Amino acid sequence: MLDARLERNLEHCEDGENENFRNFMLEILREYFGEHENYADVTALDVACGYMREAPVLTALLAQPVHAVDSDLRRINALRSKTSAVAAVCGDARNLEQIYSGKKFDLIIVRHPDIHSDDWDTMYQQCRAVLNERGILVTTFHSSDEEFKAREILGDIGFEICRSGQNKHGNWYYGIVGFAGIDGFVIVAKKSASAHAIGAAENGKAAAGNGGIIPEEVDPSDVSTAMRYLIGNVDPVNLSLIYNSIKSGA
Ligand SMILES: C[S@@+](CC[C@H](N)C(=O)[O-])C[C@H]1O[C@@H](n2cnc3c(N)ncnc32)[C@H](O)[C@@H]1O
Repeated sequence: MLDARLERNLEHCEDGENENFRNFMLEILREYFGEHENYADVTALDVACGYMREAPVLTALLAQPVHAVDSDLRRINALRSKTSAVAAVCGDARNLEQIYSGKKFDLIIVRHPDIHSDDWDTMYQQCRAVLNERGILVTTFHSSDEEFKAREILGDIGFEICRSGQNKHGNWYYGIVGFAGIDGFVIVAKKSASAHAIGAAENGKAAAGNGGIIPEEVDPSDVSTAMRYLIGNVDPVNLSLIYNSIKSGA
């Protein structure tokens, strides 16, 4: 049975919350995917969706069914009973690769992650793993402290921050400095190119299976070839990105 909170979340978000969230998402969609009527080719995943108070807005803006995951079966069942425009799954946000086995998304939303902060690294790493190369992560917070913490984590795990800070479309309820009701602070991020290169290098190393040993016949002054043995079969563009990121200490 739906409880009062769910009814409120799905149908009557208060104080213009849905309108604000819609304006926010429209701005993001236009900026990253261009101006389209229904964003027919944009695939979206809502991580830790809860009752998915954002469902009415996302399903109205996006033509394809929105995917959503939460570890609370009661919330997922309530969501399923409310709308068929969302492909809702009960699962752990720390396990997205396994849940979506090969599927990738253009837009990943993590709105107010209520996951233990020790697990944010894993959750955001998993978001990165199921994010398309052109994709963006949109994550929102109640407080500037949370946003700061997430920004640090995202930088460490290979995201490039495109936008961060206070959200002009946030819903400010409480009048407390540094704290907002809904979507008060936001980060928009995409995969960073150097981290992509490092990821490719790690894959190459695994594939090379040579334990990082440079064979004697390789001239050590031939740095490019030597590096290939060390880190695997990485294409030259990625090699230069890795070199630059090592050099800059990134
Ligand atoms: C504050 S709610 C956010 C719901 C919705 N995104 C919003 O902004 O209203 C946080 C949700 O995180 C879910 N959650 C907590 N740990 C999780 C995990 N490890 N995997 C998936 N969902 C999780 C909870 O069940 C809860 O529904």
